[in-house]
Order: sequence, then structure tokens, then C-alpha cells
Amino acid sequence: MPEADQQPDATGSEERGPRPVPAADADACAEAASPSPPRTPGERRTRVSRRLLLGVGGLATLVGGGAATAAVLRGGDGSTGPAVVPFHGSSQAGVLTSRQSHVRLAAFDLGARSDRGRAAALLLRWTGAAEHLTRGEAVPPGLEPPGSRAVETGALADTRPARLTLTFGLGPSFFDRTGLAAARPEALAPLPAFPEDQLDPARSDGDLLVQIGADDAFVTAHALRTLQRLAHGEAKLRWTMTGFTAADGRRNLMGQIDGTNNPEPTRALLSGEGVPPWLVGGSYVVIRRIRMLLDHWDTLPLPHREQALGRRAADGAPLTGGTERTSVDLAAVRPDGVPVIAANAHIRLAASASNNGATMVRRSWSYHDGLRADGTPDAGLLFTAWQPDPRTGFIPVQQRLSRGDALSRYLVHETSAVFAVPGGIRSGGYVAQSLMEA
Ligand code: HEM
Repeated sequence: MPEADQQPDATGSEERGPRPVPAADADACAEAASPSPPRTPGERRTRVSRRLLLGVGGLATLVGGGAATAAVLRGGDGSTGPAVVPFHGSSQAGVLTSRQSHVRLAAFDLGARSDRGRAAALLLRWTGAAEHLTRGEAVPPGLEPPGSRAVETGALADTRPARLTLTFGLGPSFFDRTGLAAARPEALAPLPAFPEDQLDPARSDGDLLVQIGADDAFVTAHALRTLQRLAHGEAKLRWTMTGFTAADGRRNLMGQIDGTNNPEPTRALLSGEGVPPWLVGGSYVVIRRIRMLLDHWDTLPLPHREQALGRRAADGAPLTGGTERTSVDLAAVRPDGVPVIAANAHIRLAASASNNGATMVRRSWSYHDGLRADGTPDAGLLFTAWQPDPRTGFIPVQQRLSRGDALSRYLVHETSAVFAVPGGIRSGGYVAQSLMEA
């Protein structure tokens, strides 16, 4: 019998709040309207280089950048750092970066006439835009897509880069849409259905992901708007979600200190034999929008809330004692023989040790999108888990949690997506270049 079945309910309640599925909010993807870019890699590279050069030339005359790099900001993890997070590196910025205070997660679907060349051209444009935006610079006109009449209006003029990062991911469907099905890694498969899922398909999945993090909500909104404009004729926004952290980045909306027992972020990265070049330094990210049944949760006595998690609300210390950073003793029992950390406590069932060493780095944001039709809060966690393989990371852990986790009865998983996050981008290159030009 699994552990979860042996332990009496930590919270003493079977009740869940009403959970209607939200209405679909995504448009169908429009037909791509702009002409196809060149088909051969050589031709494509020529076109790409010319566009990047145009972008860099525009940048040089437009922006200084010194003032921006000098600014120091406090991030969502309470850390301080320079306002500019370098876009280039061995991993994409936004994977190892300490969480910013604001995020926009956005998925795009490619147009019906998309193909490998067109998708590469889009990734190239987005890469160029990200290079400029993360330095606090406007996107030069040379990067605007053919046929688009919209322009940069200068909305960014008075803002700082605010540690802006743009992190790009490829969904399982991206590979089918671009004729690259044979190159899709086995680990990148649609996630299985989990018990109690109440998923909204219109706000799940997607061909492309962009995670936009910054310590300024205006900057994230502007970056999303820019990417959407540059996707004209090639891809349409499928869904977007907006999140934030507490000022010190520690608590979630259930009042818990969250993120304590996270592995070293580099554990999420891919390396070594068998990893395709475009994924070296990359990762897989699972995204779940998890609504909290706060009106119910907030009525529970403190001991019930602490038992459901296995940690103290006040300071995040495990119920087995010590401080937040003290290791939890899952074997500890009370004098009456009952485990101190309940058998269905979240930290017991989610622990790496309970799941064959499952590894994932959680990097989540809170969200609050007002009230639902029934008057309950539309609020919870934009849960993002980064790992070298979802099949040994998120999937087995969520399978276990969804079967008997005491916390899960106050949670509703409403959206779901998984993306491969290509490795870092070198100067002059673009996202997933070695995949697109293989
Ligand atoms: C809204 C949903 C969730 C909330 C509010 C939540 C909250 C928490 C909190 C407060 C902790 C203890 C502090 C810490 O170590 O970070 C924790 C630990 C953890 N959670 Fe969650 N969690 C949620 C969903 C999930 C999901 C969906 C998974 C994975 C499928 C997960 C995996 C973990 C793991 C691996 C730990 C560390 C356990 C340990 O080794 O101590 N959580 N969570």
C-alpha cells in the first residue's frame, strides 16, 4: 500500500471548491501572410546575418546602455544585481537567473503555412529583439517583419532593463509544424493526464514559449508586445499568464515560505553524451497554472495547514524542528508512533527521496487575476519546474502528489505545458540555430 494511503488525512477534509473550466481565450492561428524566407541553409544564413547586422547597426546609433548597466535592482528573490542580465551565455538567461519580481509566460502557435525556414526567421527576429530589449534598447526597424505596419512607439524610453530576461522554448508540436519531427527528443512528449486535472486546452501547450521576467511589470508587458509585433504573419499568441513574487520572493499566496528545498539550479541543465548540440546547456520546463482554493484554505486551523505541507507557516522550518534550512527528518515519529511529517504531507510525497531521486528546480510566481464568476479568487501559482528530463522529474512527482497529497486537495491544476528550452545563444547566433540549420 502506498504511504499516502496509510496516513489519516492531515487536514481532515475531503471538500474541494467548485472548479468550472474557464472559457477558452485564444484565437485560432491565422494563415501566415509574409513571403517564405530562403530555403537552403546557406541562403538562410545570408539573410539572417544581414538582418542581424542591420539590427546591430541600428542599435549603435540609438542607444548608449552605460546608465542602464549601472543601475542596481532588488529582485523577486530578494537579491540585488545589475539591471542588465546578459542575454548571451552557455545557458539562456532566465534559467539560472534569480527570479525577477514579475513574469509573463506566453505561448505562441506558428501559422498554418509555417515551415522550418519561416520558423528560423522568427527565432532570429526574436533573438535580435531580445538582445536589444534586455539592454534596455528599442528594437531597430530592421528587425520588423515584412508586411507589418506597427512600429516601436518609444514606450520603453523612460524605463530601465530591470533585469529583463527572455527565455525561449519549443513545444512538442513545434517539431511537427516545422518538419523536424525526427529531431524531437524523446523526453519532449506531451505530459500525461493526471488525476484531478481540470485543464483548459486553450491555455495549455503551444508551439513556442517565451518566459519574460523583469523587476518591472511595464518592461515585461512591453517585451511581450514587441515579440507579438515581430511575430506578425508567422505566429499568434496562444495564451499568456502574468505572475509576481512577494518583495522578498519567499511566500506564496497560501502564506507558505516556498522554494526552500530546491536543488542547485544547474541541476536542471542538460549536458553530456546523447544530448543534441542545440540542447546542451538547455533544459525542459513544465508549466502548470495551479489555482489555490484560498477561500477554503484560509479557514483551516494553523496545525492543519502546517500538517498538509510538513513545515511551519511562520518560518518555513520542517515540523521535525530547527530552522528553514534544517534538513527534514522524514523518519521522525511522535511518542504515539505517528510520523511527525504526515504520510500525505506535501514535502514527504514531493521529496526527491520519495521519487527515485527525481530532480526539478522550481521557479514559480504567484498570480491573482481577480475573482471568478462564483466570487472565489482566481489566484494561485504559475508553477514552473526545470529539469533534465520530465520523465524522471515532474511526471513521477506529480503522479504521486495527485494521488494523495494533502496540499493538492486545495489546488486545481488548470493549465499544462512542457517545452524544451534550447541552450544558450552566442553572439551572432539565434535561438536553436543548430537545430534549425542541421
Ligand atoms: C500551488 C501548488 C504548490 C504549492 C503552493 C507548493 C508549495 C510548496 C512548499 C511551500 C514547499 C516547501 C518549501 C520548499 O521546499 O520549497 C514545497 C516543496 C516542494 N514542492 Fe511544492 N507546491 C506546489 C506544487 C507542487 C508541484 C505541482 C510539485 C511537483 C510536481 C511540487 C514539488 C515540490 C517539491 C519537489 C518540493 C521539495 C520537497 C522536499 O524535498 O522538501 N510542488 N512546495
